Amino acid sequence: NFDLPVSQLLSRMNISEKIGQMSQLAGAEGWIPEHIAAALRQGKLGSVINEVDLNTVNELQRIAVEESRLGIPLLIGRDVIHGFKTIFPIPLGQAASWSTEIVEQGARISALESSTCGVNWTFAPMIDISRDPRWGRIAESLGEDPYLCSALGVAMVKGFQGKNLNDPGAIAACAKHFAGYGASESGRDYNTANIPENELRNVYLPPFKAAADAGVATFMASFSDLNGVPASGNEWLMKQVLREEWDFSGFVVSDWDSIRQLTVHGFTDNDKDAAFEAANAGIDMEMVSRTYHDHLEALVTEGKIDIEQIDLMVGRILTLKYDLGLFDNPYTELTSLPKVLTEENLAAAKQAALKSCVLLKNSNNLLPISSQETNSIAVIGPMADDGYEQLGTWVFDGETQHSHTCLQAIKNLVGESVEVKYAKAIENTRSYNQEDFAQAVNIATAADVAVLFLGEESILSGEAHCRSSIDLPGCQEQLIDAIKATGTPIALVIMAGRPLTLSNIIDKVDSILYAWHPGTMGGPAIADLIFGVQSPSGKLPVTFPRNVGQIPLYYAQKHTGKPATNESFVHMNDIPERAAQTSLGMAATHLDTHFSALFHFGFGLSYSQFEYSNVELSQENLAIGDSLQISAQLSNTGSVDGEEVAQLYIRDLVGSVTRPVKELKGFQRVFLRAGETKIINFELSTDALAFYDRKMQLNAEAGRFQLWIGGCSEAPLQTEFNIVEKHHE
Ligand code: IFM
Repeated sequence: NFDLPVSQLLSRMNISEKIGQMSQLAGAEGWIPEHIAAALRQGKLGSVINEVDLNTVNELQRIAVEESRLGIPLLIGRDVIHGFKTIFPIPLGQAASWSTEIVEQGARISALESSTCGVNWTFAPMIDISRDPRWGRIAESLGEDPYLCSALGVAMVKGFQGKNLNDPGAIAACAKHFAGYGASESGRDYNTANIPENELRNVYLPPFKAAADAGVATFMASFSDLNGVPASGNEWLMKQVLREEWDFSGFVVSDWDSIRQLTVHGFTDNDKDAAFEAANAGIDMEMVSRTYHDHLEALVTEGKIDIEQIDLMVGRILTLKYDLGLFDNPYTELTSLPKVLTEENLAAAKQAALKSCVLLKNSNNLLPISSQETNSIAVIGPMADDGYEQLGTWVFDGETQHSHTCLQAIKNLVGESVEVKYAKAIENTRSYNQEDFAQAVNIATAADVAVLFLGEESILSGEAHCRSSIDLPGCQEQLIDAIKATGTPIALVIMAGRPLTLSNIIDKVDSILYAWHPGTMGGPAIADLIFGVQSPSGKLPVTFPRNVGQIPLYYAQKHTGKPATNESFVHMNDIPERAAQTSLGMAATHLDTHFSALFHFGFGLSYSQFEYSNVELSQENLAIGDSLQISAQLSNTGSVDGEEVAQLYIRDLVGSVTRPVKELKGFQRVFLRAGETKIINFELSTDALAFYDRKMQLNAEAGRFQLWIGGCSEAPLQTEFNIVEKHHE
């Protein structure tokens, strides 16, 4: 069923050329090793990953097109995860913007910038639902919620792929890692994921379905084992779900070496069996390992893999090459026009960082700092002036020299009006060396406000960088203690790749601005927020637990038969006083920590205040197929202009499978001047209330629903509606 040019080309290809298209090798970054040149000449290579030197990329394309028998151009793949040269906040930070516009624009700029080096395919968005902050790759994710992750994942796909893959500056996107990688046991990377099918379909798969529906060009199989079958050999996932149920027509690439690793998993006995399982499951292209190259032809000759199956897989790959326009022009022109790090791109990165920062605490309105009323500030900490660390994980092409740090930006912003003194205090965030505390304490003592820049370095999150403790690392807590002892108010800015556990320090500081790893323009964005040029508007895309023992902790939990309530909650320390009681609360909670989160999903403060009122529904009873129109009044009751992320949640009170206590079903960013009121509108169709039931059927069920609108998943404003059975006449 391929277009004519693809079918015609397929009919001219021999088996080794077909398998060649299914193989990807790693480039040497700036030169062409002989094994790659030879593979190209023999038509035995479909794609190269990690080559971004433009001349080398063009030469690779030239060899492929001019020196091979069929002249098939190459896919050039690169991880452009949150920017190419202009680095945007880490994806988890971008998710905190709750803005499809910001996320789409970031991906658009990343595509434009990377395409200048001949990149035509990226391995993003990463849309693994991530509910374990110990997992390092949570930094690359869009958070814990299927609805938010779907909306932002689709925005990223649109940004990368543009209106048409054939347009200049459009690159193919890749929905990864299919599927369940985010549920790796105990947040250890590459670990087993056991996810019941119902939960898989209701929680982990929706962002992938949304990406497929949005036309994402490719999928990547996860490294992990899903319910006993590693994704790279998981026929059920790749064939039944992705192809049969979702009708996905793009192609699937393995992860790096993940087909060979089927044997390491103990799923296959050797490379040949691994190639069989992967090809049989429908992994169209093998990343870097060579099992297809070495064994697929024999598997076809032996009749174990049908040639029709190979044709299908190769046809999908060739289709993308046609769609990208590579057969018309595989080359990228060298241009003298600046296309990377332009003022426009940097401004967009600043906007993204501005909207990503989440104000978690602001006692006595310490922030914003008034540059008129403040004589001196002490800027302290390892993240204040480190252009590398603020970029975050998975940055291959961004360069430190282009970063605008917080210290520089604060000095630029306040000029002569405020005295700014700086002490790094700790060499890196992991360090236990306290030598420079004295200088930090001295400048804090003399200052009106101490602004601390702490957190995690980039290397502490990302692939294979998981942590069993997610407190502030090293001696940073001791630094807070030392500054606290000076009595100077503390505004803490945290840069990190994950939610950190902040219970130990929350009461020691006055304000906390959570900046994730904010990217190239993090400094100017944070300076604007600290000095009130802009009001913070980010909201958490993931729950912040009090301690690691609470993990996994997410807002859309199930109610359970014994839900924890404030009345039922008994702390371990209360036990002697309550010894007479036989029941210690008997609720779904721990004895030694409160059951709630430290900061809830969707939470984030502003310098203003927002109030929600007058929720109105178009009707109280909906039949299947109807849509509910919801409106509410949103007022900025504070004294500064600001943006609020209005969130819509529902609870399906009774289901044939138990339903979460809350589910996000809509959100919008609204700008309101001080004192302004706007009416906000949402629409909720019964389709949006559907879930997979025990028979894995997707249906909305009749019954009563609660509905909340507000600025956080703990929003108080609530009403109810029903889905009613259709009355038969
Ligand atoms: O895209 C990545 C993937 O997320 C992890 N393994 C390597 C791939 C290519 O770099």
